[in-house]
Amino acid sequence: MPIPFFFAVLENGLPEWWPEWARDPWTVFQVAATAGFLYVLKRYFSGALSLAERNMHGRVVMITGGTSGIGAIVAEQLAARGAQVILLTHLPPSNPFLADYIGELRARTNNQMIYAEQVDLASLHSVRQFATKWIDNAPPRRLDMIILCAATLTPPGKRRIETEEGIEEMWMVNYLANFHLLGILSPALRAQPFDRDVRIIMPTCSSYIKSPSLDNALIKKEWSPGKAYARSKLALMVFGQAFQKHLDAYERPDKLPMNSRVIFVDPGFSRTPGMRRWLTRGSLWGLFVYLATYLVSWFFLKSPLMGAQSILCAAMDPDLGKGQGGKLIKECIEVDFARLDVKDEVVAKKLWEASDKLIEKTEKEQAAVRVLEKKRQDEKEKEKKESEKAEEIESLVNSIKKGKEAEKKTSRRKGKKSAQ
Ligand SMILES: NC(=O)c1ccc[n+]([C@@H]2O[C@H](COP(=O)([O-])OP(=O)(O)OC[C@H]3O[C@@H](n4cnc5c(N)ncnc54)[C@H](OP(=O)(O)O)[C@@H]3O)[C@@H](O)[C@H]2O)c1
Repeated sequence: MPIPFFFAVLENGLPEWWPEWARDPWTVFQVAATAGFLYVLKRYFSGALSLAERNMHGRVVMITGGTSGIGAIVAEQLAARGAQVILLTHLPPSNPFLADYIGELRARTNNQMIYAEQVDLASLHSVRQFATKWIDNAPPRRLDMIILCAATLTPPGKRRIETEEGIEEMWMVNYLANFHLLGILSPALRAQPFDRDVRIIMPTCSSYIKSPSLDNALIKKEWSPGKAYARSKLALMVFGQAFQKHLDAYERPDKLPMNSRVIFVDPGFSRTPGMRRWLTRGSLWGLFVYLATYLVSWFFLKSPLMGAQSILCAAMDPDLGKGQGGKLIKECIEVDFARLDVKDEVVAKKLWEASDKLIEKTEKEQAAVRVLEKKRQDEKEKEKKESEKAEEIESLVNSIKKGKEAEKKTSRRKGKKSAQ
């Protein structure tokens, strides 16, 4: 069809229905150039596609944030390649949404080895409960990859949120939970056989570049969602480098070099639920503006699938399973860190010690709270049992009384009858 039409135009000129503006070659050129430019720009903002492939069959992948946004795509792509995926989510496995989600994921990827474990990253207690259960296994369980996709973001203009344990939410979910989780899982990682290429993937965000220094705590007066988010990501990166050193320093019983590597990934700005919450300021008005200007975010932001590409590259690129760990991947290639303090050992030591202290203090306080709560519950239970017992005795006494009265009545009736 286009070829005969082209020849017909060459022979007879443009047909009558051809729009007027499209008859001017200069206008046609301008339109084509603009469309081409927009296409190239869109391709640029969509980012690079990962070409890395790896046989994932039988590999055990633990992933946080694997039920939405970029993490959901990563979990699906790895499951489709045969990996055993363990989703760490704050929902209990019995939750109907989660059960449906896993059922659909299993059907879509044709992989039954997808499970969920309940871990609320906003709670140190929950992280400890899961991680200690995981390592409490002999021989150590297989673990090929940990992908730390979960993150939270307080929308701009909103107030500072604290977890039930009293820690600022973004610091807790984006950094401290990962510090705690990897700290407990460290023996399980170090115990993996030498021929296993183990990867710990930490998605970060370019906002870390503008983060305030980690030297001083972010006081409440200076706190803003943007600063706190960036600082939590910077802390994750500083810790990630220190964790790599901690792994490298371990002397394996077989004397072979460490086979676990930390890989940082900047996925780029993507249209995920987290990004939507940030753009809409978590408000209905924001959502309205977001929907009305959706074309702008469609144009400038990546789809979650494209956002997942650098993480998939970090998970599957064979070159990243060799040499030193602690590399940063952006647009599927290795790039340099934009801040020197990411690799600063003094900063890392201070952060590690402060995090350890905070966890110890919080866990002690929370343990005391749980003991008190248990005591209160036990007392309530005791009171309930005592009142039940008292009620039982009372009803027993009442029924005895009633029985005696009935007895008296029948004997009186009998007495009357014998008198007659
Ligand atoms: N999107 C971007 O533009 C962008 C840019 C740079 C970096 N990143 C990074 O890429 C990663 C993925 O981003 P995303 O935008 O895809 O994230 P997202 O859409 O906001 O999803 C975050 C995930 O974290 C989970 N999560 C939050 N709080 C949790 C908690 N207390 N316990 C357990 N899970 C919790 C959420 O679970 P529920 O759904 O169950 O709440 C959700 O699955 C993050 O680390 C983010 O910082 C993203």
